[in-house]
Amino acid sequence: MASFQKNPLGKTELSIDALGFGCASLGNLYHAVSDAEAADILTTARARGFRYFDTAPHYGQGLSERRVGDALRGSSDYVLSTKVGRLLRPAGYAAERHGFVSPMPFDMAYDYSYDGVMRSFEDSLQRLGLDRIDILYMHDIGPVTHGDDDRRLFPIAMDGGYRALEALRQSGLVSAIGLGVNEYEVCERALDYGDWDCFLLAGRYTLLEQKALETFLPQCMDRNCSLIIGGAYNSGILATGVRGKGPYYYNYAAAPEPVIKKVAAIERLCDEFEVSMAAAALQFPLAHPAVASVIPGIGKVSRIDQTLSLFATEIPDEFWQALRKHGLIRDDAPTPSCRSGG
Ligand SMILES: NC(=O)c1ccc[n+]([C@@H]2O[C@H](COP(=O)([O-])OP(=O)(O)OC[C@H]3O[C@@H](n4cnc5c(N)ncnc54)[C@H](OP(=O)(O)O)[C@@H]3O)[C@@H](O)[C@H]2O)c1
Repeated sequence: MASFQKNPLGKTELSIDALGFGCASLGNLYHAVSDAEAADILTTARARGFRYFDTAPHYGQGLSERRVGDALRGSSDYVLSTKVGRLLRPAGYAAERHGFVSPMPFDMAYDYSYDGVMRSFEDSLQRLGLDRIDILYMHDIGPVTHGDDDRRLFPIAMDGGYRALEALRQSGLVSAIGLGVNEYEVCERALDYGDWDCFLLAGRYTLLEQKALETFLPQCMDRNCSLIIGGAYNSGILATGVRGKGPYYYNYAAAPEPVIKKVAAIERLCDEFEVSMAAAALQFPLAHPAVASVIPGIGKVSRIDQTLSLFATEIPDEFWQALRKHGLIRDDAPTPSCRSGG
């Protein structure tokens, strides 16, 4: 069984594993996973040492939460995060939504109000069948999800929504609060409105993109706010590479040409140094001292041992230096060798 480095989560008393498990896949993201397979994936993951699991009502309209709850019920040695901001309403039919194939028969309504956040938290406890959620993220606020409606929703989220999260933290019902988003800019804005413990940032601090280094990550350091990195493979392209048949997934859709070109250039350097690109993608974000955990999406039993092996692979310093020299990562991006003092 693997045991991962534990990192403190912001100013909380919670610590989380450097490697966690992203459970969007268990809501049937991109491909259906049967109940039996999902149970097998989670049982195997736990047996191999995974302890931090991230889910959300959004993932298969409740399906991922149900499966995760079934796997964790009766044990206490887990850290669990889920999200608020979407309420599930009976739809009368189940159809693919937002990339989740064969989800549950619910529609979603955004609700970032005080009452909406409280109801979402209660609904999650009941879907999970658990009496403990450790980390609660406000899910997908910001213009990337809401476009112009962000102007209406963001103030609601930062007023009533934040007060609800704060009340849950104050009363000890959750240990940590944050945002779970695909854009760091909205986290930067949110820093002016609340005392956040952590941000789950998906896809925006990876081997492919590091703009968050300019202003956002320094602010996280200043405020002792931790980052959990989702989408470390940028939805898959950094794990699959671009030499197969495709389609190559980037940001939940077919990858645009400039991204394919950049990944191809990284793959060429990986060949030169005999490094697995997936291993580099998984290990890279953790070199930044604000990053507490990286949570790859895993949708197959076979990926579990594969992921553990990618995480444990030694990557030579020269590889990271070469990425920098070729302009494939930013000059100011810390690399794993830097963190260990190399
Ligand atoms: N707004 C938010 O809060 C937010 C947004 C995005 C993500 N997240 C969190 O972050 C987690 C991870 O993000 P993600 O699932 O979107 O993206 P990801 O980890 O970047 O990529 C997952 C995809 O990569 C594939 N993959 C994983 N390991 C692989 C390997 N070794 N070789 C080839 N392919 C591999 C998976 O395929 P298989 O399915 O075939 O295994 C899956 O399709 C989510 O599950 C969720 O918990 C949160």
